[in-house]
Amino acid sequence: MEDDELTRLLTNDRYPRSGRYSARWMVDNAMGPNPVWLAEALTEVMPLEPGMRVLDMGCGKALTSIFLAREFGVRVWATDLWIDPTQNWSRIEEADLRGQVHPVHAEAHALPFEEGFFDVLVSIDAYHYFGTDDLYLGYYARFVKPGGPIGMVVPGLAEEPPSYPPPHLASYWPWEFCSFHSPDWWRRHWEKTGQVTVDLADRLSGGWEDWLRWNDVCDRDFGEPREEAEMLRADAGQLLGFTRMVARRS
Ligand SMILES: C[S@@+](CC[C@H](N)C(=O)[O-])C[C@H]1O[C@@H](n2cnc3c(N)ncnc32)[C@H](O)[C@@H]1O
Repeated sequence: MEDDELTRLLTNDRYPRSGRYSARWMVDNAMGPNPVWLAEALTEVMPLEPGMRVLDMGCGKALTSIFLAREFGVRVWATDLWIDPTQNWSRIEEADLRGQVHPVHAEAHALPFEEGFFDVLVSIDAYHYFGTDDLYLGYYARFVKPGGPIGMVVPGLAEEPPSYPPPHLASYWPWEFCSFHSPDWWRRHWEKTGQVTVDLADRLSGGWEDWLRWNDVCDRDFGEPREEAEMLRADAGQLLGFTRMVARRS
């Protein structure tokens, strides 16, 4: 697809800051639903100030780290397991953010940072891979200063289904979607630790439509339809969407 067409199809009034970034750059580095839109959605409810130290946990190809550094003047430690930090360094250099975004290769349970080092922890489309066990938040939260915010956006459900797979999605359901949860589930999962105060647990407005639009456009660009878009269409927002959380370390 021509880049102009891609830009037209991905211009999203809900996310004006994201519109300043190349649609081609977002699509070519995609690892899931558009992380730049999701990061912008998080910053609507989690203010960032210039100079803050931010952990971007599970940053993938560092698009969100670059977005946060550019938009808010924060310093970001772009931390990920699967993506080679050398590749992320190339993207950071291309974005002219040397010295402001630092690529780090680390496993979420063995983070190479000092306790209380960060002003803010963020995670986009990643926390459900490593953070659904009861004890993880207590480990993770120690890396932000006391009272500091912890925010994330993950693919999620409107509510916990009574059975798996949810009957209307049975023919599509990848088993790994068992790690998708509702805002109420995540609130309880975090609150019961006593390690944080949850300020917000909600579902992104228009989330499933944006996810479907993103998948349709990526599939057109890729040249073949994939099943996830069909599943989102079949669900029509009944269950699938995005869960957004903001808490503070106690
Ligand atoms: C779906 S990708 C999303 C990446 C990026 N946040 C984005 O939205 O484009 C999930 C990311 O979580 C990271 N991840 C999964 N398990 C991890 C773990 N145990 N430790 C650190 N990162 C992990 C992977 O490396 C991967 O880049």
